[in-house]
Amino acid sequence: MPKRTKPYLLHASIHPDFNPNCDEYPFCIPAVREIRKIEFHPNVTFFVGENGSGKSTVLEAIALALGFGPEGGTRNVQFRTVESVSPLHGALRIARGALKPLDGYFLRAESFFNVASYMDQVGYTAGYGGPLHSKSHGESFMAVLLNKLKGNGIYLFDEPEAALSPSRQLSALSAIHALVETRSQFVIATHSPILMSYPHARIIQFDRSGVHDVAYEETEHYALTRDFLNNYPRRLTQLLSNDEEA
Ligand SMILES: Nc1ncnc2c1ncn2[C@@H]1O[C@H](COP(=O)(O)OP(=O)(O)OP(=O)(O)O)[C@@H](O)[C@H]1O
Ligand SMILES: [Mg+2]
Repeated sequence: MPKRTKPYLLHASIHPDFNPNCDEYPFCIPAVREIRKIEFHPNVTFFVGENGSGKSTVLEAIALALGFGPEGGTRNVQFRTVESVSPLHGALRIARGALKPLDGYFLRAESFFNVASYMDQVGYTAGYGGPLHSKSHGESFMAVLLNKLKGNGIYLFDEPEAALSPSRQLSALSAIHALVETRSQFVIATHSPILMSYPHARIIQFDRSGVHDVAYEETEHYALTRDFLNNYPRRLTQLLSNDEEA
């Protein structure tokens, strides 16, 4: 079990004086509207939930509140290619521990290409082990995990599995564990039943009733993937039968 007990992030909540407009993004999203308090695990906190349930919106707001740019990278990377940032970060109150992180990274699958282009353009790629665009998508993600992140850090990842093969996801689990062992804290939005199996973690489910803790084996990702793999011929017959009749 990892030894560190002092998290950088303790909890996040909406400022009590903030008056949200529930008709507009992002407070029209049920999980965002119903956020009372997100308690971060000292090691890893996973955000899980259906597409569109608000995970990226909340992760982005946490990242912006911590000083990261909206497209990701280290705190030194501050650019945006589109103006689609939600105002949630302005309403967010983040309680921090006494310990300050020495390192940090916001890794966002959907804009990592832009960050990689920017890093290659400005030439700060030594920390990644060389130019990012000469690596495959998954290789460049692994370069961040294995070369760029130094430990004693706060790391926010949005769907890191997007680029990773199942075997690289297992490697990512080992890399995450090694960083946790060197006093790092992660918040990870994911759909990967492999990544969310990490045991020293809290899994927070986003849904219509708000955000709440869920056990690994109770996540839809685990249950549905397990059921499908164990019964895929039958499930495929059920899924595809309507198409054949049509
Ligand atoms: N800039 C924006 N303006 C208006 N609505 C937005 C904006 N960004 C996201 N949304 C909407 O907010 C909802 C939540 O989006 P978000 O990206 O946070 O979901 P998510 O849980 O990360 O989903 P996924 O699992 O697909 O990544 C979606 O319905 C989306 O259409
Ligand atoms: Mg998302």
